[in-house]
Amino acid sequence: MKRALITGITGQDGSYLTEFLLNKGYEVHGIVRRVAIEAPASRLWRIHHLLDKITLHAASMESYASLFNVVEKCKPHECYHLAAQSFVSYSFEDAFSTINTNINGTLYLLSALKERAPQCKFYFAASSEMFGKVKETPQSESTPFHPRSPYGISKVAGFDLARNYRESYDTFACNGILFNHESPRRGFEFVTRKITSTVARIKAGKEKELRLGNLEAKRDWGFAGDYVEAMWLMLQQDQPDDYVIATNETHSVKEFVQLAFESAGLNWEDYVVIDKLFYRPAEVKLLQGDYQKSEKKLGWQPKVKFQTLVGMMVEEDIHGIRSNSR
Ligand code: GDD
Repeated sequence: MKRALITGITGQDGSYLTEFLLNKGYEVHGIVRRVAIEAPASRLWRIHHLLDKITLHAASMESYASLFNVVEKCKPHECYHLAAQSFVSYSFEDAFSTINTNINGTLYLLSALKERAPQCKFYFAASSEMFGKVKETPQSESTPFHPRSPYGISKVAGFDLARNYRESYDTFACNGILFNHESPRRGFEFVTRKITSTVARIKAGKEKELRLGNLEAKRDWGFAGDYVEAMWLMLQQDQPDDYVIATNETHSVKEFVQLAFESAGLNWEDYVVIDKLFYRPAEVKLLQGDYQKSEKKLGWQPKVKFQTLVGMMVEEDIHGIRSNSR
């Protein structure tokens, strides 16, 4: 039986990937912070339904020794490194901890795997934020990076670390350059879930307005459930490589807002307030991913498109509020 080790297993992608790998017959191990094990209701809600099928290990991405011990115990065949401080806005507020956790955590994990499980295949969650001030549109694997936030910078460093382990030590290390990917399990701080959860609360009469920053920013939004399959496919190839995973469609935050309110039968202009608080010191204005290489080499394509995604998220949030008030 194949063993997979997932960092960031409690997050949106970790939960979908765990379901996907369990369905494929994997033994799934996850790294979580000790506080998460002590507060399962608030910290493990996305994987609550999977807890009796997986093994969780308490460790910290900030401690090489703790990661080394988990790798030694688990001896994984595949490692999916998803853990990170992943909220771009927060990375401006605390650049030091974002850079420290994201870069050192990746290096510690790569190093521990090299020492104790050198045959393990490694997936790094790189990001379209690396393209930042984009040099061309759409962005592909050959587009140069120009990150615009401490988070983006940390992901470029992680990307380079994975590639360097591949070139120096023959580590089977792949970088997935994933564009924004969303779902009903998305964290509430990200703009899509902030919008859909507030739309649901407005619809239920529990909220009066939605405060947002830059509505002109454009993103390539896909469905997280589709994207975890691509992570797995990358590790099933004969050679390690880097891949863009995207939909090749771009939409503004305003379009997302309009559609989300519309799906709930509301007019967005009656509720949305622009608040400078949510603007970023440097913005990534436009992302659109060219996933031709993934389509050709991995046979991967996005299934859920923009409209369906927005509808699905609004519907789930409305349903969630109704079931909670029953
Ligand atoms: N979060 C947030 N909140 N974003 C807002 C708001 C707001 O109130 N108002 C406007 N925005 C704009 C942001 O300025 C940004 O341009 C866009 O909405 C998307 O913001 P996020 O949803 O926070 O995501 P992100 O694009 O910064 O980063 C996400 O995608 C990356 C992949 O490109 C994160 O998931 C990253 O971890 C991921 O790597």
